[in-house]
Amino acid sequence: MRIKRRYFLGGAAAAPLAISCAGVRADDGVTLAAAPAELQLAPADYAPTPVWAYNGQVPGTALRYRRGEMLSARLVNGLAQGTTVHWHGLRLPNAMDGVPGMTQGIVPPGGEFDYWFKLRDAGTYWYHPHANSLEQISRGLAGVLVVEEDTPPEVDHDTTLVLDDWRMTENAAIHSGFDNRHDMSHAGRLGNYITVNGLPELTGELRPGARLRLRLVNTATARVFRLRFDGLRVWQAALDGMPLADVAEVSEVVIAPAQRVDLLVDVAAAAGEEALIASVERDATFAMAIYRVNGAAVATREVPAPLPPNNMPDLTLKDAPTVPLVIEGGAMRGLPDGAIWQGSKMDVRALAEAGQFWAFNGIAGVPDAPLIEADLGETLRVPMTNRTAFSHAMHLHGTHFREVLPGGVLGPWRDTLLVDPGETREIAFAAENPGDWMFHCHMPAHQMSGMMNWIRVS
Ligand code: C2O
Ligand code: CU
Repeated sequence: MRIKRRYFLGGAAAAPLAISCAGVRADDGVTLAAAPAELQLAPADYAPTPVWAYNGQVPGTALRYRRGEMLSARLVNGLAQGTTVHWHGLRLPNAMDGVPGMTQGIVPPGGEFDYWFKLRDAGTYWYHPHANSLEQISRGLAGVLVVEEDTPPEVDHDTTLVLDDWRMTENAAIHSGFDNRHDMSHAGRLGNYITVNGLPELTGELRPGARLRLRLVNTATARVFRLRFDGLRVWQAALDGMPLADVAEVSEVVIAPAQRVDLLVDVAAAAGEEALIASVERDATFAMAIYRVNGAAVATREVPAPLPPNNMPDLTLKDAPTVPLVIEGGAMRGLPDGAIWQGSKMDVRALAEAGQFWAFNGIAGVPDAPLIEADLGETLRVPMTNRTAFSHAMHLHGTHFREVLPGGVLGPWRDTLLVDPGETREIAFAAENPGDWMFHCHMPAHQMSGMMNWIRVS
């Protein structure tokens, strides 16, 4: 593997040491103030970037709790537009889900909203706005929520790496143009500048043999990261917060927008060498985290055991109702004429004029009636067929699902699944959590231009 140092707009500077991400324990309630701020996202020879941030930080304040604790957070809206907080991947009461117009009213500028719910599952989650999502997330509103297991695995470092992708101007300002039709109808808003924990690259120092838990979170709105490792032995331990039954050694990790991957990692490089995490991109492979390996070796541990499982429902595939989902639209393939938007059939040109480029089962945007009405307690199967020319990160709120693999084998629990062009990927989930839940593509440029529907569990 040939690895380059990352260059940005002509200049590159070493990022400061920032390996650990300690987080704030919020027993007595935390405040998340969403407001404009200025942060040094680009290397030091650039001006600070005007962002929108939670508590002035990108990523926003890291929240850390133990499983079973109550999360209590007050959103204070210091933006000039309405917002909410969605707790991505959490099984929570519907009224706490943060979807404006569906589970709560939008929080206006100057307004507040209290979120309060019990953390049922351990794992790596994140939070972000669910209003004007493309602009609000792209300008920096996103933070990590870690829920610790009762008995966490024994590691030397528990580190969160938030991967993000920014579209910057030459002056390191965030490019506007959130109504860009090309982004909407193609691969979404891909950026030109990548950060890890808000920095161009991470640097740090590790002892040989040390074990890390790396919590990877992709908060980008369109970029799928492909990571490779050098000088590290890597096992995949959890996807989207949910522990894998088998911990598998991997050489590469693919992480789509909104997904999380928990890795257990041993430093295999010797003292004096480097250990690297690199992003494989079209034209080159770039270092994202560079660790100098130094000091006395930590005694090598056994191959890691699976993380303790969360208490997930049983899925009964036999006789489960099946609701096929056909994903259509976008550049190259296009929508069929007669797709429905806001209750009326429209031709493709009228849909494009309304900024709608995609449809689920012939419906663009959030319809009045849900895509699926599920009875509490039943298992549902949804084969998702992607007839478009682009990949989509399909996300269901309120519960995790499992992929139904060939032979009816159930894959890992996930909350976001990347479905590539031409694929049919079937998911199954238990309608265990009553309420109205969004089901959408987590590339917000697609979400806002048609790929946003919902299910009702009652
Ligand atoms: Cu992470 Cu509907 O969102
Ligand atoms: Cu999409």
